[in-house]
Amino acid sequence: MSQPEFLPIQWKSTFLSLLDQRALPGKKEFLKIDTVEDTILAIREMAVRGAPAIAITGIFGLTLGAKDRKGNVNPNEVDLLIKQVFESRPTAVNLSFALGEAKKRVQGETSWESIAKIWESYALEMMVEDLRANQTLGKNGADLFPKDQEEFHIITHCNTGALATAGHGTALGVIRSLRDLGKKVVVYADETRPFLQGSRLTAFEMMEEGIECYIITDGMSGWLMNHKKIDAVLVGCDRVAANGDTANKIGTYNLAIVAHEHKVPFYVCATRDSFDLNLKTGDEIPIEMRKESEVTQFDFLKNPQGGYLLPEGKTSPIGARALNPSFDITKAKFIKNFITEMGCFVAGEIPSRLKTV
Ligand code: MRU
Repeated sequence: MSQPEFLPIQWKSTFLSLLDQRALPGKKEFLKIDTVEDTILAIREMAVRGAPAIAITGIFGLTLGAKDRKGNVNPNEVDLLIKQVFESRPTAVNLSFALGEAKKRVQGETSWESIAKIWESYALEMMVEDLRANQTLGKNGADLFPKDQEEFHIITHCNTGALATAGHGTALGVIRSLRDLGKKVVVYADETRPFLQGSRLTAFEMMEEGIECYIITDGMSGWLMNHKKIDAVLVGCDRVAANGDTANKIGTYNLAIVAHEHKVPFYVCATRDSFDLNLKTGDEIPIEMRKESEVTQFDFLKNPQGGYLLPEGKTSPIGARALNPSFDITKAKFIKNFITEMGCFVAGEIPSRLKTV
């Protein structure tokens, strides 16, 4: 089973070593994180991103917070620590589920030392479980593709690979699993404006794996579906409501509509921790609004001779306003199947499938 050469989240007992995804693909740089405050910053500033990776990092952050505290435990302090981590990024439900479980596991504990131990082993357990779930999900997804076909052309959005999880990935996990079955896979990676997770991270992962990959800008999928036979769209997600409405990286909704129009199957790949049965529909999912500057400037416009090729690296008039909702909601009706570690199912089956686990 393939894994990247380097692990993006590494626990070193006294600190967390995080591959800084903001510097990719230019530099493979690790951040040494030894406080809960710096963990929160790393999540908020997207040095680490992707729903499962955020959740795992959040629990290591709690561990660092507990290690920093001494003496008797005041339950309010535990709640405050959890609340601080919870507020780092709102859309992915994986983090809030993990924090709920972290709270449950330390109920009645009276020393910070034992709390730190409990949270540390929970975070390590999450890493093992997430990798296992992604590998099973990958196989389940690969099973949906015709056995007698040797080559598949797949569009993806954002980055859903080893960088966004404990390894293997969700949507990219299905692609890796197809490749492991000996199939040729050609990936078309939406660049994923504005943070460029597709062009910076998915293309990087696919190149490391030797999987053929073409970056397309987010507006090119309609053209592509008109000019090439696309077998499937595979995306990940940050939260699925009980009716199947799905929050994922901004641009997913547009891609789903284009796929629907072209009768290309649209699959959402997610582990169990991304399903939020507390919410009836996608309208209840909180959408993170990020900085306008993520939309209005690009670092690559830096002039090698110094300064910027455009004023301050901007791609828009100085003072221009921008909107930057970081996620959108894809209506359940556009989703052919959810691919999970528990099997593949349609939106209408979600509550019954999840309750049986
Ligand atoms: O803002 P990001 O990069 O954290 O958004 C990530 C996504 O939208 C992914 O598709 C999702 O978290 C699934 S990752 C397995």
